[in-house]
Amino acid sequence: MPDPSILVVDDEAEIREGLQLLLSSEGYEVTLAETAEAALARLGERPFDVLLLDVSLPDRNGIDLLRELRARDAAASIILITAYGSINMAREAFKSGALDYITKPWSNDELLAQVAKAVDTRRLREENLQLKRAFKQRYNFPNIVGKSDKMLAVLDLVRQVAASRSTVLIYGESGTGKELFAKAIHAASPRAERPFVPINTGSMPVDLLESLLFGHVRGAFTGAVSSKKGLFEVADQGTLFLDEISTIGPETQAKLLRVIQEREYMRLGGTETIKTDVRILAASNADLAAMVREGRFREDLYHRLNVIALQLPPLRERKEDIPLLVAHFLAYYCRENEKPERRFTPAAMRLLVDYGWPGNVRELENVVERAVVLSSEELMGPDLLPENLRSRELMPGVRLPAPALLAGGAASPGAHVTSGTSPNLAGILEDVERRLILDMLERTGWNQTEAAERFQIPLSTLNQKIKRLGIDPRRRGRADSSRDSSPVDAKAPIRD
Ligand SMILES: Nc1ncnc2c1ncn2[C@@H]1O[C@H](COP(=O)(O)OP(=O)(O)OP(=O)(O)O)[C@@H](O)[C@H]1O
Ligand SMILES: [Mg+2]
Repeated sequence: MPDPSILVVDDEAEIREGLQLLLSSEGYEVTLAETAEAALARLGERPFDVLLLDVSLPDRNGIDLLRELRARDAAASIILITAYGSINMAREAFKSGALDYITKPWSNDELLAQVAKAVDTRRLREENLQLKRAFKQRYNFPNIVGKSDKMLAVLDLVRQVAASRSTVLIYGESGTGKELFAKAIHAASPRAERPFVPINTGSMPVDLLESLLFGHVRGAFTGAVSSKKGLFEVADQGTLFLDEISTIGPETQAKLLRVIQEREYMRLGGTETIKTDVRILAASNADLAAMVREGRFREDLYHRLNVIALQLPPLRERKEDIPLLVAHFLAYYCRENEKPERRFTPAAMRLLVDYGWPGNVRELENVVERAVVLSSEELMGPDLLPENLRSRELMPGVRLPAPALLAGGAASPGAHVTSGTSPNLAGILEDVERRLILDMLERTGWNQTEAAERFQIPLSTLNQKIKRLGIDPRRRGRADSSRDSSPVDAKAPIRD
């Protein structure tokens, strides 16, 4: 890194020279300016890390100059030199973006410390600006959230392919964002001003699908009382998004191939060929290559579609994106539901991050929306998450009692239920404790002394727990406790 550079702006020669001596002896590269005009001229030639600026210059009000300097270089660190006591000026200076100020006469040590700090600040700001700029250039997709390497790689590819006319085949499990990415490609393409037309080809009768895509002429089929434009026409010069492409049948596959190859087609029942300029994006969560091998999808069409393949990673393979997505959907659904800010507790967040998300981002979005809608306070705990997220393993070998059991535990001694259906942490822990104790008592033939020994706790403590947890010693010797309706069944599997 080069020596930090400093521009000293002061009309008093003595001060300029004093500062030059002091700062250059500390290894700074010092440039001097006598007037505001000279300062601006120097700054036009090169950037400086720190500006030491006298507020009372002959040709310009110091604060005005300060604002102008900041406008030219947002990362500049500016230290003002003021006459003793002008506190108002200092206040004004901070408001205008000065980093610090020194009053005449100053102590050299203090001044050097301030300058060193200003250099650090400058470099941090610079780095920050660079990062932001790079980020904006690379990932300027406002609706797409994600910073995982996998997501960034996909976004890079999106950016590369957006400009072209190439067909893109978007693969991904359900809810991974196939349609969102199709829209992003369209929005980043030269066709952005033209229509983006999505059509879900899944489970649609052939005639209907083809008439939708290509349009029909009057009398083409029963009920075709007038002629109608197809989506290829609607999407002209825009983008057509064929969702669930794997579901289209052989006849439609043949027609699609023709449009892609010839860039022309006929309406159903028509004789006139229509020219088309449409970019095709397609999505599939089935393995099209496998379908080709099995003879269920035309190989030639597959190659036409698969010019560029975009593989969207499932959420479980990019868990670092989960907190970002959660924050994104929290902000969105709070706004949508006109609720003030909401946050998940660390415990709830842990459950969200640990969960496997088979329904990917869509499932996460639904879970966040549900929590926001059900919440009444800013902090949202695990009780606002659906059951399947809450019932994960608590510790190796011990499975958390199913929440349904806990919630239904009104009849069970000691089941703690905070609201209609949600157990609190203390309740959950008590239930786990109760199950562990019951299990141990079963194993020791209800010998409490032995059970206490095995738990390495005093017998009296075990007794207290048995009482507090409402464990019934009369259960001893029951042949089959699994018939017991208690939610904390001693025979419930405690896996080891
Ligand atoms: N990276 C992301 N950032 C923000 N939102 C996302 C992201 N990925 C997906 N979503 C959101 O998740 C939801 C599901 O996305 P989308 O409909 O694009 O998925 P899909 O792959 O087409 O799903 P399906 O296979 O069920 O049709 C949408 O609301 C979408 O906006
Ligand atoms: Mg979709």
